[in-house]
Amino acid sequence: MTRDQAREKIIFALDVNEFSDVEKWASLLAPHVGMFKIGKQLYTACGPAAVRMIQKCGGEVFLDLKFHDIPNTVAMATLEGARLGVKLVNLHALGGYEMMARTMETLDKEFKGEERAKVLAVTILTSSTEETLREVGIEHPVRDMVVRLATLAKKAGVDGVVASPQEVPLIRDACGEDFLIVTPGVRPAFAEANDQKRIMTPAEAVRAGADYLVIGRPISAASDPVEAAEKIIEGIMGA
Ligand code: C5P
Repeated sequence: MTRDQAREKIIFALDVNEFSDVEKWASLLAPHVGMFKIGKQLYTACGPAAVRMIQKCGGEVFLDLKFHDIPNTVAMATLEGARLGVKLVNLHALGGYEMMARTMETLDKEFKGEERAKVLAVTILTSSTEETLREVGIEHPVRDMVVRLATLAKKAGVDGVVASPQEVPLIRDACGEDFLIVTPGVRPAFAEANDQKRIMTPAEAVRAGADYLVIGRPISAASDPVEAAEKIIEGIMGA
């Protein structure tokens, strides 16, 4: 794997809320990561201006807003995300087949075969346990639900999923090679685990079949974030 191919796999989790931090991180890291993940916190605070600032600095964006609503609302919200020119956007597979299929049809109608944002589905959040599922009336093991929802997302035309590193091989088997898998919970050997539990190194996650890795604090909390990103790139190249 080339350095550029390894770099493109890294999605930096931009977990900040100040607009000045967006510019700071985007200009520093754009040459060293493949994408910047904007989540609900930053998007609620700064909106599309955060997306544009990253793009101005030469970075690509994963808009991690995990839409879950009636089909029409999710389709229209996802379309607006795609119109911002982001590379990845996501929704909750628990919203169901119609919600996902309507969203994909809406994007295909707008972009007509031209390059568009790829849509990812969240299956079961990694913060959920069997107990969390039982509370809401789901009596199946987490792993069964993950595979079931990933398969449903694929059937609806969704491009891939967000999944924990442990789930990657299961999803690869069920959904095939061209289904995108993005995984957080990745920790290089040099970094602290923080609150992440079932972690893998970047190289392990790539070997397991992940296409993209979401990595935040191992880069943002490093004394030299650029050096940390470069070390991660080397680790991925070694995979
Ligand atoms: O700092 P860290 O590398 O743990 O950041 C990981 C990012 O991925 C955070 O933005 C976190 O919210 C997100 N995430 C996660 N685990 C999930 C889903 C998303 O850590 N299952």
